[in-house]
Amino acid sequence: MSKEHTVTTITPLFSAETIKNRIQEIGKEISDDYAGATPECPLHLVVVLKGAFIFAADLVRTITVPCTVDFIHASSYGSEKTSSGNVVIRHNMNVAGRHLLLVEDIIDTGLTMQQIFAALTVLQPASLKICSLLDKPEARKHPVEIAYTGFKVPNTFIVGYGIDYNQHYRELPSLGILCS
Ligand code: IMP
Ligand code: MG
Repeated sequence: MSKEHTVTTITPLFSAETIKNRIQEIGKEISDDYAGATPECPLHLVVVLKGAFIFAADLVRTITVPCTVDFIHASSYGSEKTSSGNVVIRHNMNVAGRHLLLVEDIIDTGLTMQQIFAALTVLQPASLKICSLLDKPEARKHPVEIAYTGFKVPNTFIVGYGIDYNQHYRELPSLGILCS
């Protein structure tokens, strides 16, 4: 069957309500852990575009300590469902001495996060931790230490809530497994 005629279905995984509740919990945990943040020395969220944009928008509104937000662009997926193995990172940040929290949508093989982590480490932040909405532990090839995880998911292809397949499905309010 040609690609145009392939029927895709999305199997529900996490509802909008479930996501909202989990994000409240993570926001509380982050706020507790960074209780020492001040307007002069805020927590600095570094959001990985594009997939984490909706997660970050909801997460930042649950954080009760002073924080600032920046964006980094990373892409490893083209139009396929497997990582290209070639991560392109674009940013324009001066974050020396800042407390950074990387906000990612999903950690799969770990390659993207490992490379972003290395790229930010050389900028000499005061601290650097990772917060990922989703974690696919079974797919891991490159070890990554995730400080805050929304949900662990099976080694399937997930879409919705900002996460895409070939730029589609980001607008869905819930998360599901793409089956084709
Ligand atoms: P990794 O480098 O293999 O860990 O892949 C990480 C990036 O690939 C994530 O930031 C996502 O943008 C994308 N990705 C990984 N798994 C999925 C998925 O199940 N659905 C959509 N995008 C994914
Ligand atoms: Mg991503």
